[in-house]
Amino acid sequence: MKNQIIQQTELFVRNELGEDPTGHDWFHVDRVRRNALHICKEEMTGDPFIIEMAALLHDVSDEKINESAEAGTAKLKSFFQTVGLPVGIENHINQIIESISYKGGRKTMLETVEAKIVQDADRLDAIGAIGIARAFAYGGKKGQLIYDPSINVREEMSVEEYRKGKSTSIHHFYEKLLKLKDLLNTESAKKLAEGRQQMMLGFLEQFYLEWDGKDL
Ligand code: ADP
Ligand code: NI
Repeated sequence: MKNQIIQQTELFVRNELGEDPTGHDWFHVDRVRRNALHICKEEMTGDPFIIEMAALLHDVSDEKINESAEAGTAKLKSFFQTVGLPVGIENHINQIIESISYKGGRKTMLETVEAKIVQDADRLDAIGAIGIARAFAYGGKKGQLIYDPSINVREEMSVEEYRKGKSTSIHHFYEKLLKLKDLLNTESAKKLAEGRQQMMLGFLEQFYLEWDGKDL
């Protein structure tokens, strides 16, 4: 029964996200699901079904890939109607999805261990080599520059500024990616983040070296 629901959800998410070019494609979702189940196993806590469902659905209602936040919520709601999960489980999954987004550093207290695990899984996919690739893919799609040394790094910002303000993909490392390591909830995710953080720092070092022509 649960297997069937997972399969139905996979199919729905594949159709909805498919090849979204802003970093929310099916492969991202699949990695987040795998990360989340890995953390769940390592930590020996959390309900794997809730975790897997929330990981699969976490980007479907995102306002960035829907006409509006309301349209996204409605889409998810109508999917849930076709599945017929017990109300308590459906609410739990919805609550995880609603609470985990980063949105410029917004700190929401996460209420359940499942939410903490899915959030860590999503954040792990924003760092390391994959994180670097996703940042430049997102930046390209949005039409922002790779880098512009004359733009300041924004420290505090509203959700609106985070989405709309002028920035570059290199700036995004300082505004979000390098901070994620210290915002992780679980020990297993922190352990994985160490290597990924080193990878990003090494990348930036080499990037500036080449930018400044210091390796010539
Ligand atoms: P979240 O939903 O967790 O807030 P996003 O949907 O904003 O994350 O980001 C999707 C991917 O695009 C992530 O890998 C993120 O780091 C990257 N990204 C988001 N905003 C920017 C930006 N301004 N510049 C470059 N990459 C970005
Ligand atoms: Ni995501």
